[in-house]
Amino acid sequence: MNSLKQWVTNSSEAVNIRLVKAVPGSGDDDDEDDIIEFNPDFTYPIFGEQEQIFGYKDLMINLEFASGSLASCFSMGYKEKKPTADKIYATMKDFLPEDIIDNHDLFTQIAQRDYISFKPMGTKVSEYRTNSEGAENSVFEFYQCKFDTPRFLEFHKRMQCFAIFFIEGASIIEDTDEKWEIRLLFERVSENGQETYNFVGYCNMYPYFYYPDQIRMRISQFLIMPPYQKQGHGSRLYQSLYNDFCSRKEIREMTVEDPNEEFSDLRDKNDMKHLDSKGVFTDLQAPVKKDRIEQVAATYKLTKRQVARCFELALLRKLD
Ligand code: ACO
Repeated sequence: MNSLKQWVTNSSEAVNIRLVKAVPGSGDDDDEDDIIEFNPDFTYPIFGEQEQIFGYKDLMINLEFASGSLASCFSMGYKEKKPTADKIYATMKDFLPEDIIDNHDLFTQIAQRDYISFKPMGTKVSEYRTNSEGAENSVFEFYQCKFDTPRFLEFHKRMQCFAIFFIEGASIIEDTDEKWEIRLLFERVSENGQETYNFVGYCNMYPYFYYPDQIRMRISQFLIMPPYQKQGHGSRLYQSLYNDFCSRKEIREMTVEDPNEEFSDLRDKNDMKHLDSKGVFTDLQAPVKKDRIEQVAATYKLTKRQVARCFELALLRKLD
């Protein structure tokens, strides 16, 4: 029993995702400052519900990505392997970028080239700075894309594996449907007279028909990459989308597909802040009439359910 156990590896622990800033001329591409490493949260869509890989001792699966262009490299290592071991690359292939390579020297060359030359694609929407430690030379930029935006389809094929790794229940979206709208977030770093870009996160949204002639915009996948979480970027992304929806006459309502707890918290916090700033909760008394909920929902392009939730939170806040 025990001897069998040592041949079983947890797939989320075995997979190492590395974001690589391959600075040309730095010589050592394993320079710690230039690599950020973390594990995926979910690998069950790839390796099955138990997230187990059989047949290896000390298995390590490395997925390296150039931090801006997301050009990628696959490699694996282990101490021992059984002849009947699970086939790793064949199992992962459908979830990995189509253009992933397994030649590490070539990957380093590509990553060094991209470090200098990669620029985000799409229409730049806005930018902001943060006062997070280490981000003194950084500006964060939003770009809006559709699948017909030049260079975006290729980039999307590289980035979509992160949805599988970090959003529970996510699936690969149909990239032939030109209705999808995608907002990308990049960090632009200015150093030594050079500007380089790192991928920070994204949100994709789908416009559904809202009778008779408007749109219900549905947020489908929303992701901030692990090294950038808990620094306010998720809220910035949410606010930038919401501002955009408010300014677009054709959009009637914003909805969210299967929000998890973290996203619901972020949504509540930002919606509450916005409604507060508009004085919506002034003189609030329970019970709140249905008409009032409908009127606030229509004015602020939120769902009735979300407005009811915000009213509830505001009433609870009053009790404190
Ligand atoms: N220092 C410390 N904490 C901070 C700072 C800061 N500078 N700035 C913000 N925070 C705190 C916020 O107050 C908030 O605290 P709380 O959790 O106690 O409420 C927390 O950090 C998160 O706020 P943000 O930083 O704005 O959010 P973040 O950038 O971490 O994004 C998200 C949140 C999207 C859930 C991210 O963690 C993520 O992508 N997770 C993995 C994927 C995922 O779960 N996506 C949502 C799935 S649902 C869907 O896709 C529709």
